[in-house]
Parts: sequence; structure tokens; C-alpha cells
Amino acid sequence: NTSGGKDGASRNIAETLEESNKNCIIFYGSQTGTAEDYASRLAKEGKSRFGLETMVADLENFDFDSLDCVPGDKVVMFVLATYGEGEPTDNAVEFFNFINGEDVQFSQGADVPLGNLNYVGFGLGNNTYEHYNLMIRAVDKALQRHGAIRIGAAGEGDDGAGTMEEDFLAWKDPMWAALAEKMGLAEREAVYEPIFSLTPSDTLTVDSTEVYLGELNKMHLEGTSKGPYNAHNPFIAPIAESHELFTAKDRNCLHIEVDISGSNLSYQTGDHLAVWPTNAGAEVDRFLSVLGLTEKRNTVLTVKALDPTAKVPFPAPTTYDAIVRYHMEICGPVSRQFLATLAAFAPDEAIKAEMTKLGGDKDYFHEKIIKHHLNIAGVLELVGKGKKWTNIPFSAFVEGINKLQPRYYSISSSSLVQPKKISITAVVESQIIPGRADAFHGVATNYLFALKQKQNGDPSPTVFGQTYEIMGPRNKYDGIHVPVHVRHSNFRLPSDPSKPIICIGPGTGVAPFRAFLQERAKQATDGENVGETLLFFGCRKSTEDFLYKDEWVEYKQAMGDKFELITAFSRDGPKKVYVQHRLQERAEQVNKLLEAKAYIYVCGDAANMAREVNSVLAQILASQRNISVAKGEEIVKNMRASNQYQEDVWS
Ligand code: FAD
Ligand code: 2AM
Repeated sequence: NTSGGKDGASRNIAETLEESNKNCIIFYGSQTGTAEDYASRLAKEGKSRFGLETMVADLENFDFDSLDCVPGDKVVMFVLATYGEGEPTDNAVEFFNFINGEDVQFSQGADVPLGNLNYVGFGLGNNTYEHYNLMIRAVDKALQRHGAIRIGAAGEGDDGAGTMEEDFLAWKDPMWAALAEKMGLAEREAVYEPIFSLTPSDTLTVDSTEVYLGELNKMHLEGTSKGPYNAHNPFIAPIAESHELFTAKDRNCLHIEVDISGSNLSYQTGDHLAVWPTNAGAEVDRFLSVLGLTEKRNTVLTVKALDPTAKVPFPAPTTYDAIVRYHMEICGPVSRQFLATLAAFAPDEAIKAEMTKLGGDKDYFHEKIIKHHLNIAGVLELVGKGKKWTNIPFSAFVEGINKLQPRYYSISSSSLVQPKKISITAVVESQIIPGRADAFHGVATNYLFALKQKQNGDPSPTVFGQTYEIMGPRNKYDGIHVPVHVRHSNFRLPSDPSKPIICIGPGTGVAPFRAFLQERAKQATDGENVGETLLFFGCRKSTEDFLYKDEWVEYKQAMGDKFELITAFSRDGPKKVYVQHRLQERAEQVNKLLEAKAYIYVCGDAANMAREVNSVLAQILASQRNISVAKGEEIVKNMRASNQYQEDVWS
């Protein structure tokens, strides 16, 4: 969302502000786009409420030794996500290393280099990870160390508790008040000013070859897509295989294999596959309908950024349909602040009052909207009571709705066994919500489910009005495809296969361990000395969701007594049994293996399971080694630090 540092633009922060007539630059450190979206929201609010001249900027486009040149009548904001185990996001690595450097040098070499710098900070973290919001905490400390002046408190949003939005809202108002005072800004009645203009084209039609109908970039539009394939340019991968893994009637779990031959993609056992979903057809229709755009869905739009520092977040010229279907997270949780913005465009006064109430009253908003998992179209339908919302400038949605994000899946195949075919194991997200007629459906997993049905020619139509267009209706791919890229991880088998390993993965947490076992079974078959391998797997019932049940038998045949599967079926008996209970039962064996330097791996639910496993492990060490639990915890901590204990968890 930034021009700085790109295409020959200056990498100097002060110069960029000067040249573009801005007095506020908002840097984001973002991996999946959320921090970037919050940065854009701050930019928008600063402008509309306080007349600040704001710009949003990607950290990787600037040189940070110029921070000491930013004058005292300007402000620099940092919106920083903490990624994985307390790591900076990819685009923030350089900045993070710079600002935390031992002998950091700023351009002017003053004693208190950042004595003039006003800054604001907000972090996005997840309290289920050990290094909660490490990025913002460390950056805040480093800036203070160099004399910078923080305005307001450094905010922290918690994705783990699901309170990111409310944490942000609670933090930003006192911050704005402090900033207004510091910079002598007068608050005005917020007036909505669009950042983008979307104008119907006089000359182009939906059949014009230069119109984007869902293709991600120019190469895809021209049908000449080529690598390198990465987070900016997905590979349209053929689905080689897809099948159901559950036998339960009411739940689904997919085993999907994509073929990456012919791409430059490669992967290693333990990596993640990013899947780029498309919104469900039924949801696209609903969204366009409530805005009164159904008839205009294929109108060709030329799109321009009205602010030269902003960047149009999708390729253009394009159509309403393509923007909504391929680029906007229209089904995601609704932002309360966004509803307040939309209130101004309500079809009548009563509806406006209701939207304003929803935007302002946290509890009311939670009760009416969040509890029912409503998406934006659902809210507009509910509040509008059948009236169409035709007054909202479309730019408000482009700015206010997050970009549709790829979803990550732990790869469940071994790169040693099938280097050109990547498999994933995905449970289809579908929830019955009390008080709501239709079920809630996750975007990517239902998309994959629909692709599976299509591929297998299932007679039953999809559960969920999905369409199958992969990156635009013009694609000429034979068969069923899905756009993907590979994200490399640090979740790795020991390089020496004779080292013992302990794997703990209930539910789809077993995905990477299926890859580990595939790999070790192959090594054993090839005559290598493979170390002891324990797999703790948990699911509800042995007859319903026992993932890869038959494959474990094959791996056992290949590995003999080097492999043991230990199961915990939580709903087969009168009492819940979980993987950590089984771990506890095996305390002696687990401790012995750890003494023999076994690697231990945990995958799956971050919120509860991974934590509980962590603490059970500390208890095992305490009881087996006759030490205190605190000492056990310290050992586990050290095992993590030395990568003897590795996690691949999500919430
Ligand atoms: P989404 O549409 O993204 O919904 C997900 C959740 O968001 C919902 O359940 C709900 O809680 C919330 N939500 C969405 N919309 C709303 C709304 N309007 N109102 C309120 N709440 C809402 N999954 C696997 O199955 N297998 C794996 O191996 C796997 N590995 C992963 C590895 C990593 C590193 C990570 C980060 C995640 C992994 N996941 C895995 C999870 C996966 O990435 C997806 O999050 C999951 O499949 C759901 O995606 P979805 O698009 O179907 O659901
Ligand atoms: P449950 O749903 O019967 O409670 C895969 O989802 C398996 O993980 C299920 O058997 C589920 O049991 C179990 N599970 C739920 N909460 C867990 C926890 N805190 N720790 C370990 N396993 C858990």
C-alpha cells in the first residue's frame, strides 16, 4: 500500500514524508495482511477525524537509519504482527534486526538519535504462543532506548483470545486523544472521503481481453503464467487426488493432493501449503444483492487511487463480481468500526440509528452480530430489513473489508517420498450456530470440499452454492485446479533418521506426522537405521474420525517395533481421554526417550491442547527425574529454545 522505496522512490522516511506532503507514516509488519489492514484503518481515521496527512507503508521499502531525520511535527506509527514463535513477519525482518542491533547507527549520529521522533505502536499477537506480542514490545523498548517519544500506550491485540478488534478499538481512542494534544490537532466531524474511485468504463466490456475477471496478475491474465511461484504469484496446481477421510456422516475431512510438477515449487517435509480460496458463489450473490449491484455485477470498472501513496489492492480494470469473489474477505468477522462508518449511508434514518448503535455498543454488537457469525452482507440484510444499501461508495468496501487471504495447511506428505505431489489434510469448517437458520461455513475448506465434489463427479450438489472458477472464468485449465504456494517452516525431522522422535497430534494435528511417518517408513524400507518413533493421535471415535487408520498399519509393517501408535479416543468411553493423558501414562518411556535426545513435536490446536501437552511434559520430567515442576518447566523451555521441542500449532 505504499509508494516509498519502490520503483526508484526514496527509501528515506523523512524525504518520503516531505515529498508526498504527509505528516504521518504508518508502517506495517504483516504476514497475512491483518496488520496491513489495521494500518490502513489508522490512516483513514487519522485523516477523517483529525485531518492528518497519512500514508501507509511497507516496512521493507525503507531505510531506518533515516528515522532520526523525521521532524518533531510529524509522527511515525508501527503496526507490527508477531509471527510464529516470536518472529518478525518477513517484511519486518530487516527493520527488526536494525532497530535491535547492538551498535545501531542512525544517519546523523546524534547522542540521543531519536530525541525528536514521535511514535505510536500497536502489536498483533496471540497469547497462546510463548512470545506474546514480542515484536511490538521489543521495538517499543528499542525506540525508547534511542530517545524516541511514544504517544499513548503501546497497544497489544490478542488473536488467541479472539479480541483483536476490541483490543484495537479500546487502544486507539486514548492514543488519538494523546496524539491530538501532542500535535495540536483539532478533531472534526469525521467525513468519509473515498481513497479509490471506481468508474464504469465507456469502452471496455466484460469480454475485453485486458479486463481482469479474477486472474491475479498480468501473467495469469495473458495466460502466460510462469514462476517463480510464491506468496505474490500462486501456482495453479492440478488436484491429483481428493478423498474423504472421515466416516462420520455429519463432518468432513479432506485428503487433497496437488501436483506441483512443471512448477518451480519445491517443499520439504514439515512445510505449509498456502491455498488461495475463492468466495462461495452464494455469498458473492448475497453481497452484491444487498448493495443493489446484482444487475451491475459485470460492469467493467476502471479503478484509481485518489491518494498517490495508496495502491489499488487488486488488478484493474475489473468488475464488481471479480473484486468481491476473488479479493475481499466478505465472509469474515465484521468490524464494529466499519459498521459505524457505513451508518452514514443507511437507506433511512431508523436504519442509520441501528447501525450507529451497533457500531458504538460493544455488547449489543456482540449479541446481535458476532454471536451469530454474521458477515457483512448478513448485517446489512438484518439491519436494512429488505432495503438495499445503494448509497455506499464502493471504495468504502475496498478500504474497509480485508483482503481475501490464503489459508495455510500443514503438509501431510513427505518430500522424500513424493517430491512433486503435496498433500494436505483439512477438516471442513461448518458450524451450527444457535438462533441462526443456516450453518456457518468456512471459506477455504468449503471451497476445497466443492472442488473435491466436482472432481469426483459427486451426484449430490455442493452443500454451499460454491462455484468452481479458479482465478477467473476464462481459465483454460483442464480438470480441477487450485491456486497454491509453499511456505517454508522450521518444523523439521532430525537430520539423522536414527534419532528417536515423539509426535503428538490429535485431529488434523496429525497432518505433518503422516508426512514424518511416510518418510521414516521409506527410510526403513531402504534399509536405513530409523530411530524409535512414537505417535500420539487423538480423535473422537475410532469408527468416525480415525485419520489414516489403514496407513499406520502399513508404516508399522515397514518399521516394525520402531513405530508405535498410541491412540486417545475421546468419545468412545464414558470418560474423555486425550493425547496428554496417554503421554502421562507413558511417562517413563517418554522420559527415557528424551534422555536419549529424542525430538518432540506437537501439532494442532494452539489454544488448549498444545499448552496442556507442554505442562504435562513438565510434570513428567518432574516426577521421573525427582525435580520440581518449575525445574521441569525450565527444561521444557530449554528444549524449545534448542529445537528439541517443536510446535506447529494454530488456533
Ligand atoms: P474461515 O472462513 O477462515 O473461518 C475460520 C474461523 O474464523 C471460523 O471458524 C470462525 O471462528 C471465524 N470466523 C470466520 N468468519 C466469521 C464471522 N463472520 N463471524 C465470526 N467468526 C468468524 N487446518 C486444517 O484443517 N489442517 C491443517 O493441517 C492446518 N494447518 C494449519 C497450519 C497453520 C500454520 C495455520 C496457521 C493454520 C492451519 N490450519 C489447518 C487452519 C487453516 O489454515 C484454516 O484456518 C481452516 O481450514 C479454516 O479455514 P476456512 O477458510 O475454511 O475458515
Ligand atoms: P473432544 O472433541 O471429544 O473433546 C481431535 O479434535 C481430538 O482432540 C478430539 O478427540 C477432541 O476431543 C480432542 N481434544 C479436545 N480438546 C482437547 C485438549 N484440550 N487437549 C487434547 N485433546 C483435545
